[in-house]
Amino acid sequence: MSTHSTTAAPGSPAAPSTLITGIGSLVTNDTAHGTGPLGLLTDAAVVIDAGTVVWVGPAGAAPDADERFDAGGRALLPGFVDSHAHLVFAGDRTAEFNARMSGQAYSAGGIRTTVAATRAATDAELDANLARFVREALHQGTTTVECKSGYGLTVEDEARALRIAAGHTPETTYLGAHVVAPEFADDPAGYVDLVTGEMLDACAPYARWVDVFCENGAFDGDQARAVLTAGVARGLTPRVHANQLSYGPGVQLAVELGAASADHCTHLTDEDVAALAGSATVATLLPGAEFSTRAAYPDARRLLAAGATVALSTDCNPGSSFTSSMAFCIAVAVREMGMTPDEAVHAATAGGARALRRSDVGLIAPGARADLLLLDAPSHVHLAYRPGVPLTAAVWRAGVREL
Ligand code: NIG
Ligand code: FE
Repeated sequence: MSTHSTTAAPGSPAAPSTLITGIGSLVTNDTAHGTGPLGLLTDAAVVIDAGTVVWVGPAGAAPDADERFDAGGRALLPGFVDSHAHLVFAGDRTAEFNARMSGQAYSAGGIRTTVAATRAATDAELDANLARFVREALHQGTTTVECKSGYGLTVEDEARALRIAAGHTPETTYLGAHVVAPEFADDPAGYVDLVTGEMLDACAPYARWVDVFCENGAFDGDQARAVLTAGVARGLTPRVHANQLSYGPGVQLAVELGAASADHCTHLTDEDVAALAGSATVATLLPGAEFSTRAAYPDARRLLAAGATVALSTDCNPGSSFTSSMAFCIAVAVREMGMTPDEAVHAATAGGARALRRSDVGLIAPGARADLLLLDAPSHVHLAYRPGVPLTAAVWRAGVREL
């Protein structure tokens, strides 16, 4: 990698400013600064200082900085924003995946296998697993990751999952309503009482979001409404696992409650699509789940044509989607879900930021956090054009060069 730096001038701040120049193609997601929905610039430069983007423009007009990084004509884009992941867990479900690839169907009940392994793990083991996944994602260009609880399903185990998650990301989601805990198999109403009462009290201090798996075999519309409204009353903002395995009330509920996102959106009626299009609720599509469960993909084209905002995320979890690769999701979305490469890259960056209601990530513009992904490729299109090929050349997170 062609990098050279000059020594910071005496008296300059501890963290030197950096001029990244020679950017062949720059995705800004800032339509005021570049062409098309991706705000594309060619032969561009970016200056970062104190963790923030401070200048974006043509390389020829770039101001000076303490250090200089030559991108060598490659593509620079905002770090991926993975707005849906389940990363606090122990064990894996290789056998279940293997059985599925031999024809067995996926069901919500598999979650309980991971619940047992997670409960048996120590705090240190869960923390180390999570750190490994965050690092794994970072190596693939993900600089913001959301993280849900949902594999504890007791007051103590859900609260510790969120406490551990909060040590790695501010985007923590209380998902006590992932499935009914095994202890409550004969008393789902009692479990909903726990999730909306004592468990919520223990978890809310560590969570920004509240989520529910609204699905056959998990929680119905009334139960989901109870979980989400209780979370809102405690200051959490809703997001919903909606319409993943079947048609259902999840999407309409998400829109009605002003959820930040409705996630999965695999089985949608025309009314569901219209509701999403007419709302600020982002449709977060998770192609890793359909890939790993051999299910039909959601129709991104239909959502985009209707005017809905679409995000792409990994849904990284040991059951239905054990990938942390946003590039993989982009490639699948382009090949299988009717998205153009530009739309998929936008959904994996700006879309994810919208789904997390963040205005400081998912774009490269003055004032944004300096979360940057340099590709070993001349264009962001290569993320779909070269599937499965590691294309990460460098990553900055909050201005710090991570690799
Ligand atoms: O998003 N849908 C619910 N939760 C996960 C699956 C979790 C699991 O199978 O362990 C999902 O696909
Ligand atoms: Fe999920």
